[in-house]
Amino acid sequence: NIPRLTVVGSINIDTYLTVPKLPNSGKTVSISSSSIQPGGKGVNQSIGAAKLGHRVGLIGNIGSDLDADYVYSALNQYGVDSLGIKRRPHTDTGKAYIFVAANGHSTISILPGANGIFTPEDIEEKKELFENAGYCLIQSEIPLDTVAKACSLAHEYGAKTIFKPSAYGKIPENILSLVDILIPNEDELNELCPEFSSIEEKANFLLNYGIQTIIVTLGEQGCYVKTIDWTEYFPAADFPAIDTTGASDAFISALASYLLYGYSLKAAVRIATYAAGFCITRDGVVASLIDRHSLETYIKQKEDGLIK
Ligand code: RIB
Repeated sequence: NIPRLTVVGSINIDTYLTVPKLPNSGKTVSISSSSIQPGGKGVNQSIGAAKLGHRVGLIGNIGSDLDADYVYSALNQYGVDSLGIKRRPHTDTGKAYIFVAANGHSTISILPGANGIFTPEDIEEKKELFENAGYCLIQSEIPLDTVAKACSLAHEYGAKTIFKPSAYGKIPENILSLVDILIPNEDELNELCPEFSSIEEKANFLLNYGIQTIIVTLGEQGCYVKTIDWTEYFPAADFPAIDTTGASDAFISALASYLLYGYSLKAAVRIATYAAGFCITRDGVVASLIDRHSLETYIKQKEDGLIK
């Protein structure tokens, strides 16, 4: 009876806009295509872990618009438990506007909508979803007092916390001291502790909060992992980038999934780099998250030398 995963996070409708180069101020860009898909880090991470075979419950806030129905149907399609989602009257579902350039890089702007009024009380109301949870995945596209509540409830129920600091600069100590695995990218790491210059110094500083593992995702350079006992760089999977959006969601959901299956941290990180690699080979996030059978078959063939 494997414990489940609880995800506390943002729910969005993503509008993808394909452009030759990412826009910058003073320059007009022409959009070559657009598409609308369910997204938000909470949704992506939930579906990622569900595709990898876990029972997953998502706790979050959604609007009372048609977009909400679209998100529910995506969660249902992948078997994510949506009982933890609160539907807010007279509120829009969160929205993200994502420019994707020809080199696969993307920039995201967010309209928080219902995510912005997701309160600690909303989590308290759904706390039965923490029962028998092995890990709780949290990101900060929701208010910080709600993040803090999620971390403390997770610990109260014996779940480990995996946190991605995605939308705020400084994260308060009361949150960092409740994080077991912290997964920032380089920009997010800099915002957490701008006073240090090297990645090692920053990671060492963050370990002082009691965080057991810091994983800094480095895009095509792979990731840097620091625990109390060891430090190691892991290479990225060598896949062509079509759209890098959501690579960290793929990484985090795979990491949590394989830790929950009982793999070592090093093995889970390695598998997670492949999950992130697969995610960037297709447009969008949800459709690019890989299933367990395909992921494990690919890795086995790679290890057996059947794939270069
Ligand atoms: O990590 C990618 C996600 O970030 C997108 O789905 C978007 O909604 C934002 O939350």
